Amino acid sequence: MSMRVLVSAASRHGSTAEVATEIASVLAGAGLDAGVASPDDVHSLDGWDAAVIGSAIYVGHWLAPARDLVERLAPELAVRPVWLFSSGPVGDPPAPDEEPEDVVALVELVHARGHQVFAGRIDRKELGLGEKVITAALRVPEGDFRPWTDVRTWAEGIARDLVSAQGADPGAEAGEGPQEGTS
Ligand SMILES: Cc1cc2nc3c(=O)[nH]c(=O)nc-3n(C[C@H](O)[C@H](O)[C@H](O)COP(=O)(O)O)c2cc1C
Repeated sequence: MSMRVLVSAASRHGSTAEVATEIASVLAGAGLDAGVASPDDVHSLDGWDAAVIGSAIYVGHWLAPARDLVERLAPELAVRPVWLFSSGPVGDPPAPDEEPEDVVALVELVHARGHQVFAGRIDRKELGLGEKVITAALRVPEGDFRPWTDVRTWAEGIARDLVSAQGADPGAEAGEGPQEGTS
């Protein structure tokens, strides 16, 4: 049986949700059993062997549903391989280039194996009035800056880590220890 990997990301305007879907599709392509769920719908990690959790960045912070997910399930996450990602910086080069403020603590809380920041997307016509005011005042550039090749490369690295961990445990596949003459 292949490892089950949960991919869950908080998204306000959909672009980070699409990054999560792409990560899950790379993991599935590598032979893992990947599933995508919205953070508010994840109440337990029963049945999941590993997790990739992400959020869009708004005003320097993760969105509440993703932060809450990591905090609520911290004990379960801490005993599984976990990776975090953020999607936010826009422009060429993407800015701002600081990590979102709350993520350092979340990485420590669940002993995440990594945290990756990806550039995001701003589609002005999707923004609410307050968001339009903020992005105009800060002269935030509009456009889709999501680095799909980097996203896929990052997900392939996760798949490699998980698949090699699986291969390192001879009991994981057979269920009753190593057997001769089978593969
Ligand atoms: C009001 C507003 C504030 C933002 N603040 C930040 C920020 O502090 N840091 C950052 O990297 N990106 C920031 N962004 C960019 C978003 O993170 C980016 O547009 C992201 O791709 C949105 O993801 P979503 O479509 O999943 O909501 C901001 C965008 C808006 C509209």
